[in-house]
Amino acid sequence: MSQQPNLQPTAPAVRDSILDTATPVPEAGVVPREQLARARVLVVGDVMLDRYWFGDVNRISPEAPVPVVHVQRQEDRLGGAANVARNAAALGAKAGLLCVVGHDEPGERIVQLLGDSGVDPYLERDPALPTTIKLRVLSRQQQLLRVDFENLPAHEALLAGLARFDALLPGHDVILMSDYAKGGLTHVTKMMEKARAVGKPVLVDPKGDEWERYRGATLITPNRAELREVVGQWKSEADLLVRVTKLRAELDIAALLLTRSEEGMTLFTNDGVLHASAVAREVYDVSGAGDTVIATLAVMLGAGRPLVEAVSLANRAAGIVVGKLGTATVDYDELFHSH
Ligand SMILES: Nc1ncnc2c1ncn2[C@@H]1O[C@H](COP(=O)(O)OP(=O)(O)OP(=O)(O)O)[C@@H](O)[C@H]1O
Ligand SMILES: [Mg+2]
Repeated sequence: MSQQPNLQPTAPAVRDSILDTATPVPEAGVVPREQLARARVLVVGDVMLDRYWFGDVNRISPEAPVPVVHVQRQEDRLGGAANVARNAAALGAKAGLLCVVGHDEPGERIVQLLGDSGVDPYLERDPALPTTIKLRVLSRQQQLLRVDFENLPAHEALLAGLARFDALLPGHDVILMSDYAKGGLTHVTKMMEKARAVGKPVLVDPKGDEWERYRGATLITPNRAELREVVGQWKSEADLLVRVTKLRAELDIAALLLTRSEEGMTLFTNDGVLHASAVAREVYDVSGAGDTVIATLAVMLGAGRPLVEAVSLANRAAGIVVGKLGTATVDYDELFHSH
């Protein structure tokens, strides 16, 4: 390390301005394991399979000027709503997953991986649907190509899912909507109305700029880009507060948690603005951190813990998960006994 002055002039300034307008979230204590085990979280949304093919490149194809990859290894990981459900289960909660998959090999693989993760699968099958899969071809740590298969689920499968939601609602404490804009949440508004009618909290990880469909959410967790799409670019923390307050009032959203990557996360409610600074020691892999955040929030609320405590723990979980390569979950011991 050379003796250079701090060359990151903006980072401290940004943090100062957040904490000028926001109160720090107090550090949470230990929540008993048994309490988390009683939390029953139902995740509804878009599932996907993240598949990785690893191989060597030794020649260029005679058919076109492209490398030929000889595939030697395949790795599969749960993505989207399935990754959220897996995160809730990893913390020791009971986690169910309601979604639509196809009648194909990736769909079967998702079922198998959910079983390994201890998630209760409530899968509607759409025989005409290719299960959403993102296939990456890699050679020497270099991604050469990504191939996506996806389509909108059929009407019938979505309606069956809505009926199944009614049946599942009484057996769960918290509903979590994980939106990846693949059509799995076509009936999100109806589902949220049903949950609200029986007094169950609904958490939403949003996508897109049509937030009318999330009306009445208990808690919504956009990242910076997702919030910007809806309220526009804010000029300052004070301006952000004005925009978020207006949005929450218009859509009857009780709480908004803005996740801000390396800046941590900011909670907006009628009680004011709270901020948790990022706590990551090392950052290896930030993808999926948002899934860990909302899963942790749902588990804590399902266990009956207050929102502010849930935010503190979600921030801590995110700080742990971004330090991991590969596995993207945090378990009970890591969350409570390793910091
Ligand atoms: N570079 C980083 N340094 C430290 N903490 C980070 C970093 N990136 C993410 N985090 C932690 O993870 C939380 C969620 O990250 P982020 O705001 O990027 O969510 P996201 O964009 O929804 O993530 P994704 O969609 O990739 O799962 C942050 O609030 C922070 O606590
Ligand atoms: Mg996200």
